[in-house]
Amino acid sequence: MLVSPSLLSADFLNLKKDVEMINKSQADYLHIDVMDGVFVPNISFGFPVMDPVGRECTKPLDVHLMIVEPQKWISRVRDSGAEIMNVHQEACLHLHSCVQQIHNAGMKAGVTLCPATPVSTLVDIIEDLDLVLLMSVNPGFGGQPFIEHTVRKTEELKQLRDASGSKALIEIDGGVNLETGARLAQAGADILVAGSFVFGNENPAAVISSLKAL
Ligand code: DX5
Ligand code: ZN
Repeated sequence: MLVSPSLLSADFLNLKKDVEMINKSQADYLHIDVMDGVFVPNISFGFPVMDPVGRECTKPLDVHLMIVEPQKWISRVRDSGAEIMNVHQEACLHLHSCVQQIHNAGMKAGVTLCPATPVSTLVDIIEDLDLVLLMSVNPGFGGQPFIEHTVRKTEELKQLRDASGSKALIEIDGGVNLETGARLAQAGADILVAGSFVFGNENPAAVISSLKAL
């Protein structure tokens, strides 16, 4: 299993310490949650945090933009060091164009679905994607309980992905722990995001290793 710990649950007074922990851990990515207070009912952080984290972090940045009009920020996100730029299907009027622009900027393109958005909405774009991020909580906050239908959606997405020949990775975000993670692994997830489960533990690097072993 690939693991993408979410910076949202890190200690913002000691970010350097947490980034160093990520660098030394078995994490495959660092997940960066950007919220604008418009697309979601919360504000997290922006480029003044992302830029120094991107410089310090040796793992690829997996950037999850919970913002309206994400296409306006493509080159700026690339300049902050993002390897993957995830945009919400619900936030993009012209999703295909946005994905093309992300690729043209030299990043991998991910499309994110909120819990109420069906997997079938990706039928005409799955072949163009490097990643699909399924939200297993409503976006905006860490520490929420896992929404059960995500296991079925993961299976549906795997079927759609495999039938289309797409190589898109399947990433799941929200309420991930060893119990939900094991079921998601069984259902076909490739990457697990985990925030509170990792950073709420006394030994976050060991938690990352245990998620990797799923
Ligand atoms: C929620 C964010 C998540 C969040 C997950 O909107 O997209 O990445 O950090 O937090 P946990 O793992 O605590 O549910
Ligand atoms: Zn996220």
